[in-house]
Amino acid sequence: MSSTRLEQIKDEALKAFGSAANSRELYDLKVKYLGKQGLLTDIMKEMAALPKEEKPLFGKKVNEVKAGLEAAYTQAEEALRKKEIEERLAKEELDLTLPGARRLRGGPHPVAVVTDEIARIMSRLGYALRTGPQIEKDYYNFEALNIPANHPARDMADTFFVDDTHVLRTHTSPIQIHSLESENLPLRVIGTGPVYRCDSDISHLPNFHQIEALCVDKKVSMADLKGTISFFVREFFGAGLKTRFRPSFFPFTEPSAEVDCNCPICKGKGCSLCKQSGWIEIGGCGLVNPKVFEHAKIDPKKWQGFAFGFGIERMAIIKYGIPDIRLFPENDVRFLRPFAGE
Ligand code: DAH
Repeated sequence: MSSTRLEQIKDEALKAFGSAANSRELYDLKVKYLGKQGLLTDIMKEMAALPKEEKPLFGKKVNEVKAGLEAAYTQAEEALRKKEIEERLAKEELDLTLPGARRLRGGPHPVAVVTDEIARIMSRLGYALRTGPQIEKDYYNFEALNIPANHPARDMADTFFVDDTHVLRTHTSPIQIHSLESENLPLRVIGTGPVYRCDSDISHLPNFHQIEALCVDKKVSMADLKGTISFFVREFFGAGLKTRFRPSFFPFTEPSAEVDCNCPICKGKGCSLCKQSGWIEIGGCGLVNPKVFEHAKIDPKKWQGFAFGFGIERMAIIKYGIPDIRLFPENDVRFLRPFAGE
């Protein structure tokens, strides 16, 4: 009786192993027939009911069946694994010619690139880099720079007021005052960073960047100023470009001038950027007004100085022919990428 049952289990198991659809199913079958609570274990229990002399033979038979089923299982498992791998290979395609997943790298913003470049050029003339607060006391942004109350430069139309005595700095010139107050003379510094004005169109942003130089020494003249700016222009925009001064007015310099240089795009021949004039305005400059020295408790009879200030975005626009200042804060990677050195 038990022997017949054993044969039955064997045939059934072999058939089942051979027709399992996948490894998971096959494993379940292994548990069913060969597991601790499987059918072979059950049948071993039946041995107790057999006459004593039949027990060894039956035990041997069960072990043979067990070994046979284990071998059949291993074989079936191997075959299924192969089949499954082949199916995956046929289904999944690996196209080695596809471009890899490129990691997007960050890079310096053009404003940072141009600031660094200007700072590097000026450092060769001994200028050290300074920053300063962006929320500035009225005194530093205006008063100490000889821009008195009621001066048009304080107009509500341009200045973002924070409270009665603070503004978002409208220029980097207050950095000059911080340096004059806290540093030893003689002095060569450049001040740079964001500035804010209530202004926005194709060539103005409410938040843009400036860079400003201040040189203070015993004897400083317009010739030193012109020499320094000429050097800067040739280093930054290109060899051979000329610089010219036009008389102007700034409360914190006397005399004051606007600085033009030969248009770096057409090299002075005339093009659309310079409106056919060959010249392009790059910023303001002048000799430090004695009143500024007095505010900083420096004796204007002992010390002289010059200063000049440029807009960073404007420098980049002129150098690289950028059509619209609004590209700077837009964060379009097509615009930013070439500046990041890629
Ligand atoms: N602060 C001026 C502005 O924002 C620019 C400027 C002009 C800076 C003359 C200077 C200077 O240092 O000497 O328009």
